[in-house]
Amino acid sequence: MAGKKQMTLARIRRHPVLSFPDRRAIRFKFAGRSLSGLEGDTIASALHAAGIRILSHSPRYQRPRGFFCAIGRCSSCFVHVYGVPNVRACVTYLEPGMEIMPQRGRGAFGRAKAVRPAKRSEKTRRPD
Ligand code: FES
Repeated sequence: MAGKKQMTLARIRRHPVLSFPDRRAIRFKFAGRSLSGLEGDTIASALHAAGIRILSHSPRYQRPRGFFCAIGRCSSCFVHVYGVPNVRACVTYLEPGMEIMPQRGRGAFGRAKAVRPAKRSEKTRRPD
């Protein structure tokens, strides 16, 4: 329920110039949480719409990383998809049933460990 509410708040529904056709909902999992995005979303856009801003943690200082360039150039959005590390969430389309985990450091093949929840709210933390 909370995810649905956040998705509504984070998406642009009405715009004076652009139109947004209806799209089919897609269910997926992020860090064990069941969420939904829309057909045509990238992983990052679906997570952003669900209110999730932290996608990975930096290798050296474990600082939270999020959506940054959104064109596949900065590596700030690396996630594990089906256990495969270093998948760029901003340029990878969401698929039904996708299992996604945030990435810590350089990542490793296999099942990624769940990341402990941040002390501060993800919505208020600024990725750096
Ligand atoms: S946000 Fe820069 S590569 Fe994805």
